[in-house]
Amino acid sequence: MNKPKVFVTRLIPEKGLRMVQAFCQADVWSEVLPPSQDVILERVRGVDGVLSLLTDRVDGEVMDSAGPNLKVISNHAVGVDNVDLAAATLRGIPVGNTPGILTETTADFAFALLLAVARRVAESERFVRTGKWVTWGPSLLLGQDIAGATLGIVGFGRIGQALARRARGFDMRILFYDPQFPPGIRVQKLGARSVKLDTLLAEADFVSIHTPLNEATHHLFDQTTLRKMKPRALLVNTARGPVVDPQALYLALKEGWIAGAALDVTEPEPIPLDSPLLELENCLITPHIASASVATREKMATMAAENLIAGLKGERLPNCVNLEVYRR
Ligand code: DGY
Repeated sequence: MNKPKVFVTRLIPEKGLRMVQAFCQADVWSEVLPPSQDVILERVRGVDGVLSLLTDRVDGEVMDSAGPNLKVISNHAVGVDNVDLAAATLRGIPVGNTPGILTETTADFAFALLLAVARRVAESERFVRTGKWVTWGPSLLLGQDIAGATLGIVGFGRIGQALARRARGFDMRILFYDPQFPPGIRVQKLGARSVKLDTLLAEADFVSIHTPLNEATHHLFDQTTLRKMKPRALLVNTARGPVVDPQALYLALKEGWIAGAALDVTEPEPIPLDSPLLELENCLITPHIASASVATREKMATMAAENLIAGLKGERLPNCVNLEVYRR
């Protein structure tokens, strides 16, 4: 029997890749850089499935280029803002993602960034390496305390809640904003309380973003919202770059509307080397690695493979983001 044809847009961790290769005739893009849009359009022609990464745009044109055989799109990420879900649903194509398994790893990293920006870890390391450490000083590289500080979590899904669990252990006061929770709800086991976004911005010493990227959250952090934060507040973003307007953030950091930022995600990615954000000592930037632990990336790859294979078999995807396709 002929194996189904799939395009895998990058080398994924071995275990997942082996599952895909055992079940499919897989065309795997093995370059370091993602395939261009033209290459994607070309390589998907006639495939039964696509295993994509968050760096690939999978839109209606790609789906049409694949043609009528296309049965499944499996995204190797929990975020699916790179896939046009409406276009997939319209064509009856289920889209898979990798929720749950990266929650703890991502929350660990968000908390690591929070600690790092509060205590100026990256800046201090640069200080040492550039030979500026000449003596101990009472006012040298002073940072901010975590214990007793207020953490504002924007987006209280799995990762936001996992961050709250960590913050609780550090004796933080926890507020959260999420349109799914009306203000005033107390989540006792996490010691967290839902508030309006404006309240969160006005009260939080740390603001950590955990929303998906969509029309409502695009540039949610712009000049208006950033100006509502405390001058000593620190912003952490491990969600998606475009939730924060980079120009507004630059002004906020440069002019002291807020004290610092730690970004694992940027707009665009990678951040261009001439971005003014890179000139700022109070802006810590890492290359979208919040879920990058060996175990988590392996689980993401196997989950993406399971979604792909289920779709190719005509079965319901174990993790499907557009369940409407099954109601048609
Ligand atoms: C995701 O899965 O959406 C993350 O951004 C990468 O792990």
